[in-house]
Amino acid sequence: MEINKGLENVYVKETSITYIDGELGRLYYRGYSIFDLAELSSFEETSYLIWYGKLPTQSQLDEFKKRLAEHRELPASIVDFLKKVRKDANPMDVLRTAVSMMGIEDNNKSESLLDKAISITAKIPTIISYYHRLRKNLDLVEPRNDLSHAENFLYMLNGNLPSEIERKVLDVALILHMDHEMNASTFACLVVASTLSDIYSAIVGGISALKGPLHGAANSEALKMFIEIGRVENVEEYILKRLENKQRIMGFGHRIYKTYDPRALILKKYAKDITRLKGLEELYKIAERVEQVGIKLLGSKGIYPNVDFYSGLVFYSLGFEPDFFPTVFTSARVVGWTAQIMEYLQDNRLIRPKAKYVGEIGKTYVPIHNRS
Ligand SMILES: CC(C)(COP(=O)(O)OP(=O)(O)OC[C@H]1O[C@@H](n2cnc3c(N)ncnc32)[C@H](O)[C@@H]1OP(=O)(O)O)[C@@H](O)C(=O)NCCC(=O)NCCS
Repeated sequence: MEINKGLENVYVKETSITYIDGELGRLYYRGYSIFDLAELSSFEETSYLIWYGKLPTQSQLDEFKKRLAEHRELPASIVDFLKKVRKDANPMDVLRTAVSMMGIEDNNKSESLLDKAISITAKIPTIISYYHRLRKNLDLVEPRNDLSHAENFLYMLNGNLPSEIERKVLDVALILHMDHEMNASTFACLVVASTLSDIYSAIVGGISALKGPLHGAANSEALKMFIEIGRVENVEEYILKRLENKQRIMGFGHRIYKTYDPRALILKKYAKDITRLKGLEELYKIAERVEQVGIKLLGSKGIYPNVDFYSGLVFYSLGFEPDFFPTVFTSARVVGWTAQIMEYLQDNRLIRPKAKYVGEIGKTYVPIHNRS
């Protein structure tokens, strides 16, 4: 009997969505390299690719963009919830509850799973932006159907139209976060979906798993670390002390990648540009130094920067507050979750692993008044 703690190296399904080469640091969606998609594609086009399995023609893309844009508005009950919920809540808790409410509003509508996936994906940026603005006592900015997904997201968040570089940086960051084969949150989605529960419940499971600092919240932890370090000169001492205290460098290390996570490499370039534009170069320089010191100390163990290392800097520069970073991650990963769920359900098998019992058996039940 072999126990696979953490299910390391256990395959739970076949997939034609995402392929990772952890040794070479390569990532492919539907066979296309992440380097090409980040440079040349958009959120909408890559979502289409992940959901439909092929790149769209121009007319298919136009139609798809329109469809996605039409679903941005939230039901009144969710806006009402966002207005009433406490302002110091964890944004991932707020998002999780809002998606759960979407399931109640849906009330078993007979749409396809893909229609539901499109609706959830379109609405998540509205939830995030509304809660962001309500927390700051700012007026809500309603979604605009004439803007792209990334443009509209930043428009609703910041209240003004983003520049071309801001739009590009968000598009790239969202593409990079869209899917990642069988990670913890995707597996959580599949566990729920495999019981033939509904897609909203499955996504709620995914959000719950992504919230953890070992998964989707490492981005805000990494940024907190850069801010805490304060100056480039402090990096070496800070990192050494952290490792001495058996603390981890956030945004470093990965279960699959034993070299650079390609997403970190891509984001680094954009982080450099956007931090310079926003007057945050000092934070970028600190991050770059942490990267050098971290690789010097941990590289020989195969521990390198992962996607969360530079994404926090990027999200921060675009106007997102650190506790919102995992929600931005969610806004992209929901595409991968829903695609993986649909793929799994084509040949569903209830996920029901086993646990090896190591306790005693055959004990005598003693009535409570006789127990010492
Ligand atoms: C992501 C992560 C959980 C994957 O780790 P894993 O495959 O489970 O590997 P383990 O936790 O078993 O770690 C293996 C070794 O590497 C070390 N290690 C892993 N990540 C490390 C990090 N970020 N900083 C310092 N040491 C690290 C562990 O301390 C352990 O060392 P040991 O063998 O001397 O005890 C881990 O790298 C981590 O905690 N990273 C920080 C959080 C993070 O960035 N998460 C986002 C992932 S995309």
